[in-house]
Amino acid sequence: MSAAPRLIAGNWKMNGTIAETIELCEALRLGADRIDRKIELLVIPPFTALAEAARRLAPAGGRIAWGGQDLHWEPDGAFTGEISGPMLRELGCTHVLVGHSERRTLFGEAGETLLRKLRAALRHALVPILCVGESLEERESGATERVLDAQLDETSFALDPEEARRVVVAYEPVWAIGTGRTATPEQAEQAHRHIRARFEERFGSEPAGALRILYGGSVKPANARELLDRPGIDGALVGGASLRADAFLEIAVAAEGA
Ligand code: PGA
Repeated sequence: MSAAPRLIAGNWKMNGTIAETIELCEALRLGADRIDRKIELLVIPPFTALAEAARRLAPAGGRIAWGGQDLHWEPDGAFTGEISGPMLRELGCTHVLVGHSERRTLFGEAGETLLRKLRAALRHALVPILCVGESLEERESGATERVLDAQLDETSFALDPEEARRVVVAYEPVWAIGTGRTATPEQAEQAHRHIRARFEERFGSEPAGALRILYGGSVKPANARELLDRPGIDGALVGGASLRADAFLEIAVAAEGA
């Protein structure tokens, strides 16, 4: 298990009007006081809500960080519809998702594109949260580890060691995302162990020990503790349940005991 603080991150996806952002952020800001400070909290709203989230969360003095759901690899230019690292930094973002499975499956992101995004995030001092995970078909055909290896080979493992150690990995089995079907704690632990072992082979034991690996896929208050209790699960990337302040904070509480 990583010695780094645990991270509970809420990926709002394409949810969060300004009014909803105000309500959710205010509730999170008030509720975060009861969460042990050794747990890091992060919200990842849509781009349009980031400025409002920043305004609402800044008074919490860094207790809750905020980040972007994606970024382009160039700092600026003719890329209609895209958002860059410097734009996220200007809004106070500290983290950015890279390669979420919805970006991979719905928008065709893979390989070189994701490596460029990782590098751009690091160049602009954003912590990338690199998402990896297998589909149901891949799991059922016994290809899980092969798929994880391939996804890591073309992204994190193509970085320099100094860059790679700044990446957070999120293991998110595609079949568990938004489906209500969570990986069992054993399945999650096994995948995390595999990722860390591969990281160790590539970069050595010290960086592998420090690597933070989050689990994501239908994490809810009811299942958070059994997942977060497992060795090597260093936090959670929460989708649906992060849209309710009480549920998100309860998941953070579950991380305290682990
Ligand atoms: P979920 O989403 O918690 O709604 O399954 C997780 C994610 O996509 O990061």
